[in-house]
Amino acid sequence: MTPARRIAGRSITTLDGLDDAVRDRWLAAFTACGASQCGFCTPGIVVRLVGTHQRTESAALQPGDADDRLVADDAAAVERALAAHLCRCTGWKPIVDAWFLAASDDDDPRLADGGMGGRDCAAAEQRATLEGHTVQSVGPLVAAGRAGFADDTAPADALVALPASDPAQPSDPAQPSDPAQFWVVADTVAQARTRAAKVQGRRTTAAAVPPLEVPPGQWDLTLRTSWVEPAYLETDASWCLPGGEPANPLANGGAFGGKVTSPAPDAARRLADQHQRPVRVLLDREDTVRLGPKRPPIAAGVRSDGTGVVRVVRTAGIAEAIRSCAPTLDVEEHDVAGPPTGAHLRGAGWVEAAVLMAAVRGDHTITSPDGATASAHVDDDGTVTVSVACGDPLDITTLTSYCTGAAHMAIGLVTSESLAVADDGTIGDLTIRSFGVLRASQTPTITVTVDPSLGDTTGPPVPGSDAVFAAVALAVWRHQGFPPCWPTGQPLRSR
Ligand code: FES
Repeated sequence: MTPARRIAGRSITTLDGLDDAVRDRWLAAFTACGASQCGFCTPGIVVRLVGTHQRTESAALQPGDADDRLVADDAAAVERALAAHLCRCTGWKPIVDAWFLAASDDDDPRLADGGMGGRDCAAAEQRATLEGHTVQSVGPLVAAGRAGFADDTAPADALVALPASDPAQPSDPAQPSDPAQFWVVADTVAQARTRAAKVQGRRTTAAAVPPLEVPPGQWDLTLRTSWVEPAYLETDASWCLPGGEPANPLANGGAFGGKVTSPAPDAARRLADQHQRPVRVLLDREDTVRLGPKRPPIAAGVRSDGTGVVRVVRTAGIAEAIRSCAPTLDVEEHDVAGPPTGAHLRGAGWVEAAVLMAAVRGDHTITSPDGATASAHVDDDGTVTVSVACGDPLDITTLTSYCTGAAHMAIGLVTSESLAVADDGTIGDLTIRSFGVLRASQTPTITVTVDPSLGDTTGPPVPGSDAVFAAVALAVWRHQGFPPCWPTGQPLRSR
């Protein structure tokens, strides 16, 4: 994110430039704490924390550098060091835990075997795959950012295809009515960006407004929600050889369902066949926000007997998702000018429905369509306590990491996340910092416990983090007094 001109005359150390022993210790600490899931953010964060740690140890530190002087129990200072970073997956707490583990002088047994000391790697990967809803690896290679992101494996001689700047929105970007108008193909990324007239992403000061009105009626509880960006960090990418199979944009991350309908693989295959050359398809952040699916906004009114009406932006599969958790609610789909929406996004529809039903009944526990059960509580100081039962945990570190990340995302959904969309459907927020994702310093303490009193914790494993996502959304909304709109704009914690 730093323009090259700002670093003229300075030296830069990347992950691969670190001393081997230092790098291995920090990657092991991240692995041991579950601080890396997709791994896309991790190398930058590791380098940041190593640099911060080295400065704190440096004799040259001056008194005025007090903010950089970290001590072993200074979580707030670690969070400040993370201010320039964004992790969408882990909920930050595992990263702060990794700092304490790596920065300590101890030879902690958790650091053995690259951070997998005493753990069953196959079981950890099974849990990660369940939670990510796509194949996921666990281990120090993930923390090193070497989990196989789609564009990393592209042939060096591949052509580059980018969406044209401000392309007309086709109903299916992989099969636009005029591909030559939609995809710009060139020999290099720089040439393609120039031809596509790419500009830096923008953000707006316009407010995000829920696009649907609550249906008329006598309601005991109402809720309106906004457009929400899934905000996965690795933007869509794929590549393909002529006549081949395209690289999977989900190489090590489920993108919270946001890439299930990615246009990149189909476009790579078609363009490679058309040009008879390998083709890389790349979407930048702005393309990903414009073309990728958003969480469908709703406006609902519910009575205490569980009846009511949910209006939702028309989305394939969303009515079924809502009815799966709230069969007594009527569902109305409405056409609204705006970005694409997707029922594949984490808990889309059923989470809002389950939260409404639990809230109106006074329940604190939510069972997901997958069969996991979770409950959550928010203390007066904003601390979030989560309990979950989702069959055999398989690997507690991995399960806790995914559940902490889900809790972080749920707090954001209720309190801070939204996209400003104009009446004509144009998105105003096009940068990763404009989606309302909570920073480390804004995230309250989150603790996750596997609780046999909630349900099965020894049988076949099922995804647990989606149930946690719903339970934490319910707890946060209840804690704030059930305001009628998400995001509420009320932080649980701010520094
Ligand atoms: Fe941080 Fe995925 S592990 S963004």
